Amino acid sequence: MQKSIRDYLLEKIGKPVKLEHPEREEWGDYAFFAKDGEVEIKSDEVIERVEKVGGFVNIWLQNEWLSNKVSEVIKEGDKYGSTAEGSGKTVVIDYSAPNIAKRFGIGHLRSTIIGQALYNLHQFLGYKVIGDNHLGDWGTQFGKLIYMIKKTGTEDYTIENLEKLYVLFHQEPDDDGARKWFKKLEDGDVEAKSIWKKCVDVSMAEFERIYQILGVKIDETYGESFYEDIMPEVIREAKERGITSVSEGALVVEVPGFKTPLMLLKSDGGTTYAIRDLATLRFRKGKWSPKMIIYEVGAEQTLHFEQVFAVARMLGYAGGDVKLVHTKHGLYLDADGKKFATRKGKTIKLEEVLEEAIGRARKLGCEEEETAKAVGVGAIKYFDLSHNISSDIVFDWEKVMALEGNSGPYLQYTFARTQSVLSKASTQYLTPNPSPNLGEGNQRGEVVFNDEERSVLRYLYRFPEVVQEAAVRLAPNLVCNYLYELASKYNTFYNKHSILSAGSEEARNFRIGLTVAVGQILKNGLGLLEIEAPGRM
Ligand code: ARG
Repeated sequence: MQKSIRDYLLEKIGKPVKLEHPEREEWGDYAFFAKDGEVEIKSDEVIERVEKVGGFVNIWLQNEWLSNKVSEVIKEGDKYGSTAEGSGKTVVIDYSAPNIAKRFGIGHLRSTIIGQALYNLHQFLGYKVIGDNHLGDWGTQFGKLIYMIKKTGTEDYTIENLEKLYVLFHQEPDDDGARKWFKKLEDGDVEAKSIWKKCVDVSMAEFERIYQILGVKIDETYGESFYEDIMPEVIREAKERGITSVSEGALVVEVPGFKTPLMLLKSDGGTTYAIRDLATLRFRKGKWSPKMIIYEVGAEQTLHFEQVFAVARMLGYAGGDVKLVHTKHGLYLDADGKKFATRKGKTIKLEEVLEEAIGRARKLGCEEEETAKAVGVGAIKYFDLSHNISSDIVFDWEKVMALEGNSGPYLQYTFARTQSVLSKASTQYLTPNPSPNLGEGNQRGEVVFNDEERSVLRYLYRFPEVVQEAAVRLAPNLVCNYLYELASKYNTFYNKHSILSAGSEEARNFRIGLTVAVGQILKNGLGLLEIEAPGRM
C-alpha cells in the first residue's frame, strides 16, 4: 500500500504531532502545533514551503504533487479512497431492525440509513462486513397480539390494524390471556405459529417496500425469533458461571455498576429482549468471529446495551479484543422541538415522507421518475447523514431539498454538472483520445495554477483520509462535510473559469481532468452514503 501523505509528513516531522488541515486556505494544506525550535522541516519534492506563525507550523504542498492526484484519482476510479486495511477482519452491523406488527418508524429509518453508510465505509476499507437486520419478531407482545386477533376475530392483517390491537389490548388488558398465547407460541403451537407467521409476512412485505424505495438490501435477517433454541444455552451457561439470581420470580444477572439487574427471564418464564441479544452475540461469535459489532440503535437503548455488553463479556461471548459499539443515534424533531414521530397526535407514515421527498424532487426539475427518486430519497438520506449520529435532527424540508448548501441535491447537482461538462468534452475535444492528458501539464517544469484550480486540487488528496476517519469515528457526517467542501470549491472554479474553451490546450486538458476527478470523488463519496449520483438532473 502506498504511504499516505500524512504518514510521509509525520515521518519527516519525526514527532507525534497532531497534523490538521487548517481552517483557512491561506494557512496552508497541513498545520500542527509545536514549540519553537522543536521541529525543523524543509521543503522537498512534496513540500513547497513551511511557515511558522505563533506556535503553528503551516505546510504547503507542491503544485506538482497536488496535480498528480488528478491522474491518480482517474486511474483508481471507483476504488479511489478505498484501502485493504480491514482485510481479514469481520465487522457485523446490526441495523434497521423494525418490529413486526408495528410500523417502520423514523428511528428505524435513521438506523437503516446510518447503518448502511457504516456498512459501506467498512467495506470500502477492506473489512468483511455482515449486515444483520435484527427484526423484532419475538417477545411477550406477540402474546398480546395473538390474544387480540383471536378475541376480535381479526382477518385483515394490515400493520395499521395490528397496531390498533395493541392499543385495544391496553384499554382492557388480560395479562393471563396474553401470557397463555405467548407460551403457546414458544411451545410451537400450530395455530399460534401460523397467526404469528401471517403477521411476520404482512410486516415484511411492508418493510420490503420501504427498503426498495431506500435502495437498501441487508445481508441477513435473522430476527429475534431465530434465537429461540440458543436462549436455553445462554441460561445454562449463565447458571454454570453462577452469575444468575432470582428476583421477584425473574431470572436476572446483577451487573456491577448498575442499580438494576439485567433480566433474562420474566417471572412467568417468558424470554426477554435482553436474553435474545445475548443469544445473538453467542451466535455471531460462533458464526463470524467478528472483531467488532456495531449496533446502530437509538440512544434510548443505552442502558440495555451497556448491560448486555457487560453480561456478554462475563459469559465470554465477546472477548476483550472484540469491540461492541452502540451508536446511540438521536431523535428526529419537528420545528417545535417535539418528537417528529407524531404530528397532531397522528403518527407520520414513513412512506409518505419518502413520497413527499420524491414529489419535491420533481418540483426541483427532475423529470425522469428514476432521477426524482434518486434525488428525493438521496436528500432524506443526506440530511440524516450530514448530522452527527448522536445529534437530534430538526426536520426541515427547506434544508432537506435545498439546491444550495450542504444538501444531497446540491452534491448530486454538482456531480451532474461535471458529467455534463464531460459529455460535451468527449464529443468536442477528446476524440480520438478520450482520456484527459495531464502529462504535458506536469512537464511544464513549473506547474502553475490559478487560485480556484488550486483550491480544488487541494481537496482531492484528502478523500482517503476522510473515509478512514469517518469509519474510525463512525461519523459519516465527515464524508458529507468533505463532499460539500469539494463541491463548493469546484463550483467556484466552474463559475469563474471556462473549461472547454480555456485559453490553452494544456489548461483545457487539465481542467477536464480536474472535472473527471471531482466527479469521480463525488460519485464514490455519495456511493458510500448509499446515495445515487444520476448523470443528469
Ligand atoms: N427492534 C428493536 C427496536 O425497534 C431494535 C433492535 C436493535 N438491535 C438489537 N440487537 N437489539 O427497538
